[in-house]
This record gives sequence, structure tokens and C-alpha cells, in this order.
Amino acid sequence: MEGRTVLKFFFLLLGLLVVLFFTHSPDHTPTNKATEFLDCSNYSSWCTFKNRFQPKTNNLNSPKKPKFINHNTQVPTHPLDPLTIQEIYKTRSILSSYPPFKSSPFTVHTLVLEEPEKPLVVKWKKGDPLLPRQVSVIAIINGKSHVLIVDLGSGQVIRDVVSSLNGYPVMTIEDMNSATRAPLADANFNRTIIARGIKLSDLACLPISTGWFGKKEENRRLIKVQCYSLQGTANFYMRPIEGLTVLLDMDTKKVVEISDQGRNIPIPKAENTDYRYSKVLNKVKLINPISIEQPKGPSFVVEDGHLVKWANWEFHLKPDPRAGVIVSRAMVRDPDTGNLRNVMYKGMTSELFVPYMDPTDAWYFKTYMDAGEYGFGLQAMPLDPLNDCPRNAHYMDGVFAAADGVPFVRSNMICVFESYAGDIGWRHAESPITGMEIREVRPKVTLVVRMAASVANYDYIVDWEFQTDGLIRIKVGLSGILMVKGTSYENMNQVPNGQNLYGTLLSENVVGVIHDHYVTFYLDMDVDGSNNSFVKVNLVREETSPGESPRRSYLKANRHVAKTEKDAQIKFKLYDPSEFHVINPSKLTRVGNPVGYKIVAAGTAASILDPQDPPQMRGAFTNNQVWVTPYNRSEQWAGGLFVYQSHGEDTLAVWSEKNRPIENKDIVLWYTLGFHHVPCQEDFPIMPTVSSSFDLKPVNFFESNPILRTPPNVEEDLPICRAAASA
Ligand SMILES: *[C@@H]1O[C@H](CO)[C@@H](O)[C@H](O)[C@H]1NC(C)=O
Ligand SMILES: *[C@@H]1O[C@H](CO)[C@@H](O)[C@H](O)[C@H]1NC(C)=O
Ligand SMILES: *[C@@H]1O[C@H](CO)[C@@H](O)[C@H](O)[C@H]1NC(C)=O
Ligand SMILES: *[C@@H]1O[C@H](CO)[C@@H](O)[C@H](O)[C@H]1NC(C)=O
Repeated sequence: MEGRTVLKFFFLLLGLLVVLFFTHSPDHTPTNKATEFLDCSNYSSWCTFKNRFQPKTNNLNSPKKPKFINHNTQVPTHPLDPLTIQEIYKTRSILSSYPPFKSSPFTVHTLVLEEPEKPLVVKWKKGDPLLPRQVSVIAIINGKSHVLIVDLGSGQVIRDVVSSLNGYPVMTIEDMNSATRAPLADANFNRTIIARGIKLSDLACLPISTGWFGKKEENRRLIKVQCYSLQGTANFYMRPIEGLTVLLDMDTKKVVEISDQGRNIPIPKAENTDYRYSKVLNKVKLINPISIEQPKGPSFVVEDGHLVKWANWEFHLKPDPRAGVIVSRAMVRDPDTGNLRNVMYKGMTSELFVPYMDPTDAWYFKTYMDAGEYGFGLQAMPLDPLNDCPRNAHYMDGVFAAADGVPFVRSNMICVFESYAGDIGWRHAESPITGMEIREVRPKVTLVVRMAASVANYDYIVDWEFQTDGLIRIKVGLSGILMVKGTSYENMNQVPNGQNLYGTLLSENVVGVIHDHYVTFYLDMDVDGSNNSFVKVNLVREETSPGESPRRSYLKANRHVAKTEKDAQIKFKLYDPSEFHVINPSKLTRVGNPVGYKIVAAGTAASILDPQDPPQMRGAFTNNQVWVTPYNRSEQWAGGLFVYQSHGEDTLAVWSEKNRPIENKDIVLWYTLGFHHVPCQEDFPIMPTVSSSFDLKPVNFFESNPILRTPPNVEEDLPICRAAASA
């Protein structure tokens, strides 16, 4: 019995917290659900059942696409290609014969490609010899964080710097796993759980980053563990053991302190919390099945594993354990010249900041930085074909290194697909008064790159969506499960006037705590080349002089080129509107405008925490919605290289204070998508997706509408499949 419960506990932890790593076998049989049999009005072959069933890894009609990716035999072909299994093994073997690693136990926290110098990558052409392969490693040896570069060609460690910064590297999956188990070695912990009336076999625990609040958190890696009851539901998040917080030393795995302050708070009920389709009662079917059809197959290819070519776009795509998705060398084809033109050298999620708005003992520290603390890519789970991504999606696996330096494959981590949502690319119809019968409409089809990270309870869906008109939309969707707080209240009528619940009562004994989400993007724009400028196009009210016009006022656009970083620290103001352009001052259009791209803002929630509040100091990269810095390959992580327990001394806000020149330079644009979240009952027991996005939109980049010459849809191209008549 004892053995069984321990096993169950262990299994549930593995299953629920961080799943599906260490799969050395790279190929997974697709688990497409049975498709309803379709009878087609036109029996062309694409429409029959067999051909509609498409295995996950091979759905492109391109002969260049290998049938299955065998990660064991993969070789890099592009300078930005991520490390292969073989390269990770090689790095591990080089490290194990390197003296500091030979003599002491080490843990690998980062092991990724050290990207070659930007000018070399820009110059590189297909067919050129591959640039030297180097590996960026962050490892902890004897409590010290080493930043290393390993050269795979020479088999040498060519740099080894011990970090002097405060803060620690991204946690490993092993750190998180062992932290959730460690409290069980402490008899006091077991007693506390039993005293709360919870069976140890029903326990599910979460590893929660501690943040940094002063002396107490210094000089050792600490983590807090909070637990939930799994009894009666898979959605243990809705059953918190409120007020119980275990402070743990992540390295010794010893309990430092147990704070048990919620003994009078009941565990909320399990009823109606499960979200699994197999468990929900009174299922409802609101719509008929829906899917997009591509009778001639998709229009994109993924060459050599990572180079995506679609319509007028081409870019390099790779999974990253920290950023999740990295889009590089994004180029769009000019319809006039036929040439590919640079838009963005590199774009990625740089950091997230998620502060909860409850200052009490069991909650004040919940101020997550999901990329630098947990690894946004490490938390990306395999996507579910047909539900996370549509049928014709192409899936890309992540190949990462575990704490011991051994590679593992995260399958189906990213998907790429064409999306047609019934939207319009452009249109015009003439009214009968002109006597012209014109109705010209073009459907809008886009290409989406998607990843979904499940950072414990929360799910972040990140989309990079490319449009044929040159626009790139970067969208973040929030779903998953709220982090909730147990309360003794079952109804609002029991809550004394003026009592702060720190959130909304969502169900009996369950409060959804108010919180913010900030997702900060790194956007190394290279608009037709590296040397770019940042221009604020400020709309101001001009007043007419008396008698000049029947109008009293109108708007005028004032252009201001930012000279230094502080000129480009932007806080949005509704009544002082501006556009923000990244231009190439030395490249003009036919009529003399500098070519550019602008950032079109949305998701503009701004952090209003006290700037001196410790979490806000660490999350100071959210102090502005837009920043521009000169390109520096050491400045890519907005919260700093070492975010875990950082003090905020290495953030974007600190770099930007250097106020370096940014005019006609290689510049990096930073944008933060922000969300305030006051939970509501609809967010219980799992949240419908809330999303927001911002755009990178061409401004005077093309000579004219780049999709003017594209054709409309016609009936003959789109045969119809009908559901078979029931027998
Ligand atoms: C089905 O479509 C093809 C072209 O896609 C066409 O040649 C054929 O005539 C159609 N068949 C029927 C039965 O409509
Ligand atoms: C706490 O309980 C777990 C699960 O029953 C058990 O494996 C562990 O040994 C217990 N710890 C102590 C110190 O007794
Ligand atoms: C960018 O400008 C710098 C001067 O600020 C110049 O040295 C460099 O050659 C330029 N680079 C390109 C690619 O034009
Ligand atoms: C590049 O970034 C690093 C880390 O922030 C900094 O130490 C260095 O001074 C920066 N270099 C320049 C030229 O700004």
C-alpha cells in the first residue's frame, strides 16, 4: 500500500508538473483522432478519407522534406541551426574532460548554440561552408555560475567566466522535480499535511521561484514549495492547501523553513473542477466539426529542418529552452524587384514578468519571470494535433540538454501552419451610384508559427503570424488554470465590508488573485540592412488662425529621430499619440520616404507597482512599453542573464540608462505586451483564452500595396466535402 501510494505520488508529479522529457526516440506515432468519414461531392483524390489523414511529421508535398526527422542523424546546415543530439553529446564529452568539470559535480543549466557573429551570419549563403559551431554553456560548479563557450571544431573550452552578478541561471527540470519531492523528507512537513486532513498520497506540489526581497534570500538557491490536494480532481490547482509554504534550499534539498498560516482555511471542494472531456458532465456540442481544406496542399516548406519558406516570406525558425521560439533572418520578397529584403535579424520572447497582487505571507513572492526562472521553452509541452494546430501543420521538435548534459527531445514543440480565418486581405466595392459594378476582394491567408508553454498552471500561446502584405503579428494567448487562494468564505455575503480578498471569489472557498502578465519581446530589426533609426511620429493638434479656415483644429505628424536610448524610452499616452517607426535612413523609396517598419501597439497594460518594490526592480524592463538599445550580443535577456533571485542590476532598464547613441545604428527594439487580470467566474475551473497582439507593419517599405496583384478565390479551386449521409 505504502509503495503504491508513493509510486502514485511520484507518477502524478512527473505526469502533472513537467512531462515528456528524456524521450530519446525521436519519432512518435501521430495520435490523430479518428476523422469522421467524409463523402465528397467531387471525388478528386485529396478529398478522400485516406489522403486527408496526415501524419504529423510529413505533411508537406515537398520532395525536400524528409519523411521523419531522425534526430540522431541530423546535421546542422544553417549557421543558426540549433544544436543536434550529436553536438550536445560532443559538448558533454568536452566538458567532462575539462578540469573544473572533471573534479566536481556540475549541473548544466543552459546548453545552446552560441550564435556566430551577426555579420558572418548575414554574409553566409546556402552552399557556403558552415560557420564554426560553438556552444554557450551555463553550468553551476561548487555553487558558482560559470559562463562557458565550447568550440566543437577544436574540442576546447575557449571561455570560462565565473559570473559576478547576483542571481542564478534558469532552473533545470531536475531542480523543479526534486524541489517538489524534497519536503517529504522532512517529518514536520508530513505531520503538517496530515494535520490538515490530507493524505500524503493525494499531494501535488509546485516549485515556486522565490524572487528576491533582501538579505534572507541571498547566497543560496532557494525555492518555495506549495501543495494542493489531488483528491477527486486532476485540477489540483483549485484545491490549495492555503497558507502552507515550504522554503527549500534547492541545492541541499533541505527544508529551511515551513510557514503554516492557513490552518483554518478549508480545502475547496473537488466538484466541478475537472476540465478533462472524459470527466465533464452534461457535455455540449455547439458547432459542427470545422477544418480548413487545402486541396493542393500547403504553400509552405520547411527546408533542412529550420528554414521556412512561404508566399513572399523566408525565415529561420528554432526552438530555444529559454525563449521558446526564435525567429531569425526574417525576409520578405519585394514584388517589384523579386529580391528578398531584410526585415528582422532576430525576434523572440525575451522575458515574462507575472506579479501577483497579494502581499501576504504565502503570496507576496509570486512574481514569476517565466523565461529566466523556469525556461519558457522548457515548459512548452507537445502540441495536440487538430486542436492546438490545424491539420496541415508542420511540427518541429526541440532538442535540449538536461542537467547532466545529456540531450533530450521535446517533440511537437512548435507548429507551423497556414491560417485562413475567413478574413479579408483587401477589398473595394463600388456603389451603384458610380454606375460601375466592381467588387474586388482578396482573402487573407497567413502563416502562423505557434508554441504553447504550460508554466505549471498557466498556459501561454505564442504566435508569430506572417501576412503577405508584409505585416508580422505577434500574439500571446493566455489560458490554463488560475493560481487561486483558499478562503473560508463561500459567498460574498459573508465577506465583511472593506475586507480585501486580493481578488474575486470564483467558487466556494476559492479566490482568483489579481495579477499582471508582461511579455517582453526582443526584436532586432534590420530594415533593409543593419543601420536603422528609431523615429517617433508624434500627432499633435494644430490650431488654425482666425479666418484661415472654418476648422479650428487639425492633426499634424511631427517626426523626431531618437538620438540616444533615453529618447526611445516610451510610455504610451492616449492623448499624446505617436507612431513608432524603425527606418533605414539611407534607403529611400521612389518618392523619397525612408523605408521602414512600425510597431503597432496593443496589449498596453502598464505596471503601476512602486518602482522601488523589489519585484518591480527586477522587472524594471516593464517600466516602459517600448525601448530601443544599440545591438549588443550580451544584451538579449530583458531581465538579465541570471534572473533567478536577481536584484535587478542587469535589466534592460539598467542598460538603457547608459543612454548610448542609437541613430543610424544597428538597433534592437523591445516591446512589452501587458495584461492586467482581475479574475472572474468564467475563469473557473479553466480559463477561456484571452489574447492580445502587436504588429510589425511595413511603412513606406514597399513602393505600393504589395498584394495588389494576388488573385481572388474562385469556386473551381475549392471543391466541397460533404458529410456522408447517415446510413
Ligand atoms: C472534380 O474536380 C476536378 C478538378 O479539381 C475536375 O476536373 C472534375 O471534373 C471534377 N469532378 C466532378 C465530378 O465534379
Ligand atoms: C513522508 O511521507 C512520504 C509519503 O508517504 C514518505 O515517503 C516519507 O518517507 C515521509 N517522510 C518522513 C520523514 O517520514
Ligand atoms: C553602419 O554605420 C557605421 C557607422 O555608424 C558604419 O561604420 C557601418 O559600415 C555601417 N554598416 C552598414 C552595414 O552599412
Ligand atoms: C554590451 O553589454 C554588456 C552587458 O550589458 C556590457 O557590459 C557592455 O558594456 C556592452 N557593450 C557596449 C558597447 O555597450
